[in-house]
Amino acid sequence: MAIPNPIKLAYKTLQQGKGIAGLAHKELSTRLMEALFPDAIPTTEPISTTLLMELRNSINELEGLDWQEAENGIYPKSLLFEAPWLDWAKRYPLIWLDLPSTWERRKKRRTREIPDFIDTEIYPEYYLQNFHHQTDGYLSDHSAGLYDLQVEILFNGTADSMRRRILAPLKYGLETFKSRNISSLKVLDVATGTGRTLHQIRSAIPDIQLLGIDLSSAYLRQANQWLNKKNNELAQLIRANAEELPFPNNFVQAATCVFLLHELPSKARENVINECWRVIEPGGVLILADSIQINDSPKFKSVLENFPRIFHEPYYKNYLTDDIMQYLKSAGFTDITANSYFMTRVWSASKPLHS
Ligand SMILES: C[S@@+](CC[C@H](N)C(=O)[O-])C[C@H]1O[C@@H](n2cnc3c(N)ncnc32)[C@H](O)[C@@H]1O
Repeated sequence: MAIPNPIKLAYKTLQQGKGIAGLAHKELSTRLMEALFPDAIPTTEPISTTLLMELRNSINELEGLDWQEAENGIYPKSLLFEAPWLDWAKRYPLIWLDLPSTWERRKKRRTREIPDFIDTEIYPEYYLQNFHHQTDGYLSDHSAGLYDLQVEILFNGTADSMRRRILAPLKYGLETFKSRNISSLKVLDVATGTGRTLHQIRSAIPDIQLLGIDLSSAYLRQANQWLNKKNNELAQLIRANAEELPFPNNFVQAATCVFLLHELPSKARENVINECWRVIEPGGVLILADSIQINDSPKFKSVLENFPRIFHEPYYKNYLTDDIMQYLKSAGFTDITANSYFMTRVWSASKPLHS
């Protein structure tokens, strides 16, 4: 009988634990909402047992690949276990305290409750909303402090496993520049939020220069706290609109963009892809990761359609059928590939050396 690899077993156990914790949280919070805020219950399509099994299989495949890529040396195995556990444990009660205002917002269909101190002039109009009904939208330290944990719960502990799917195509794409010193190369994470993707990239490619932009100062402050610790090379974090990147042409060798596109109107999606094209050096690569779409994952159609019924996601319905591949081609990218991993689709696209 083969002896199970103890690290693999530990990884599987951790993921199972996170999955159970996520499901338990959702079950308990739904019951509480039913009791306290029955008017806030969204009308959703029922999910069949067969579909639940499909979802479970899809998570198993994702985690199998996550392990395999660590085993293949794409990133260190320690990354599979890494998270600010103590900090999350301290923040978890705040999620419960915040839930009633989230339900109230959903019940009253209030989706534009932005903090008073925000200068609305400096943000695009589409951004000034309570995405996911979250308190303050993306515009406060309170929201930034809860975000990572909320996403982990939403995806039953698979959020980072899905983010890590950008790492293999990113490393592969950077091969073009292998004759250069790695520390001279720059990767830009567009809409970096709290910096979870930059964190994964730093583990996989330790000496590469990290840049991150986001519209939210609060989220960047959180990213700064996680990323710019003692002895770490500084990650450069800049508040900016992804539609107007504050960099010259051909400035970075790679760009990544995770879970942004579904939160943008279609024109802004196209603008972001065009901006990425502009700042990437010829020979470089763009890796996008976002929700799967109906065409690539028809079996999950009802799950996808339920999402914007539960959470305030004003552009998600349009995103579900939008043609990301076409935006990439129109921008000029070539060698475009796309693959789905549980709830995430990853596109890899090259900016040709000669166009
Ligand atoms: C769903 S979060 C994803 C964050 C992060 N990439 C992750 O993997 O968790 C969306 C992020 O996009 C940012 N964002 C939305 N519109 C933006 C824009 N036009 N320019 C820059 N950032 C934007 C938000 O502030 C938020 O941090």
